[in-house]
Amino acid sequence: TPTAQDRPGEHELVVVANRLPVDSRTLPDGATEWVTSPGGLVTAMESVMRTVDSGAWVGWAGSPGEAPAPFEADGMSLYPVPLDQIDVERYYEGYSNGTLWPLYHDVIVDPEFHRGWWDTYLSANRRFAEVAAPVAAPGGTIWVHDYQLQLVPRLIRDRRSDVRIGFFNHIPFPPVELFSQLPKRNSILRGLLGADLVGFQRESDSLNFLSAVRKLLGLHVDGMTISVPGIGAAPVREVVVQTFPISIDSAAVSALTEDPGIRERATQLRRDLGDPQRIVLGADRLDYTKGIRHRLKAWGELLDDGSIDPHDTVMIQIATPSRERVEAYQQLRDEVELTVGRINGEHAPLGRPAVSYQHHSFDRREMTALFMAADVVLVTALRDGMNLVAKEYIASRPDLQGVLVLSEFAGAADELRAAVLVNPHDIDELKAAILRSLAMPPEEQEEAMRSLRHQVMEHDVQLWAKEFLERLTATGSPQVAAVQA
Ligand code: F6P
Repeated sequence: TPTAQDRPGEHELVVVANRLPVDSRTLPDGATEWVTSPGGLVTAMESVMRTVDSGAWVGWAGSPGEAPAPFEADGMSLYPVPLDQIDVERYYEGYSNGTLWPLYHDVIVDPEFHRGWWDTYLSANRRFAEVAAPVAAPGGTIWVHDYQLQLVPRLIRDRRSDVRIGFFNHIPFPPVELFSQLPKRNSILRGLLGADLVGFQRESDSLNFLSAVRKLLGLHVDGMTISVPGIGAAPVREVVVQTFPISIDSAAVSALTEDPGIRERATQLRRDLGDPQRIVLGADRLDYTKGIRHRLKAWGELLDDGSIDPHDTVMIQIATPSRERVEAYQQLRDEVELTVGRINGEHAPLGRPAVSYQHHSFDRREMTALFMAADVVLVTALRDGMNLVAKEYIASRPDLQGVLVLSEFAGAADELRAAVLVNPHDIDELKAAILRSLAMPPEEQEEAMRSLRHQVMEHDVQLWAKEFLERLTATGSPQVAAVQA
């Protein structure tokens, strides 16, 4: 129910996401430190929001407990949403990352279904809606992001009939056969249908969602438009579904490669690794969807059978810590670290690694230097909404050198056809793709990279956001439709 506090606010565009673009950390002396939040969502939306006047971002500040007061950063207003310890355990680690995440990523690990997790998912989604609803200006736009907040579109619509609501899912939407396993699946669909526009990464995600709506809710679907019956006397609403493949701030990433400090760092990195002829890079959140185990298996076998000489080829694997209290992530970390230890024990020359394993995050400048130094980048995700690492690598190579090995199960594979596309489950195919990439002549690298760069530089995140918001503006919110009628 709307409350007196739901009086309109002043922001024309309000982004609602699980995380704010910055995470708060409490230092040993009690002071608060703010660091950039992990993940592709923040990488993409941060640069969009920097260009928006009167923008607001509603999200969690990354630690359990009381939320800090709203504050300004980078020209936008940040509205923290409080999550207590139970919320973090049941809404974030539980329902979002123990149920939805594995289910939406092709059940690479088994999703867990717990009723208590659902209850907290609902109450946490309510809290996000309660913070977000009063922040938007009259007739403004609220853009809700990702699988953690699928109930929020409807919860906001119940409070604010004057605003336009968009939803974008950054991760895959599963086939209806898998989605049907989800207890409370229809509540999720109805939550999403509170939006005027529901956006997905790949065409297959949009089609999966439409088929779930048709089969599970029995709603009428005409092309990409769903007719949602109003409650009581309310008119029928139309909800549009569309595919918008997300991207990066391509020009900004490309420009960093001109920075003398970063260029020097790229050279230094190679020197630090003992001046190998070839550097192969993997850079991921430490997540079971990323196919890190498959990649290491392929790499280990190539070293075992002598196809790769560790004296002249080094692999760097960056594994950014992620969701460290969730069991599947702890197990993954153990397995990856055991495998890296074995490979290094068996193959590393004295004083230098065969696999340089980094379990921490790197800032943007350091990442650009790594991409500039990498002769081959391996993106071997078993399932991934998009994968922005692939696009960042391409944007970091204005020299048109370097090879991208890309899993066909990453959303990016729909656009980046000139990459070396692989099925990462096929270890032999993956090994062959790595060897082919390492041996690729400079002219062939240049031809592929030119085509990849054309795609990434033309289709940047600014264009992605513009297209989403323009499409959203072209849809009618119920009140607008009623006034026009
Ligand atoms: O889109 C994937 C996503 O869940 C984003 O919402 C988030 O930016 C990223 O992965 C990182 O995950 P987490 O916020 O759980 O650390």
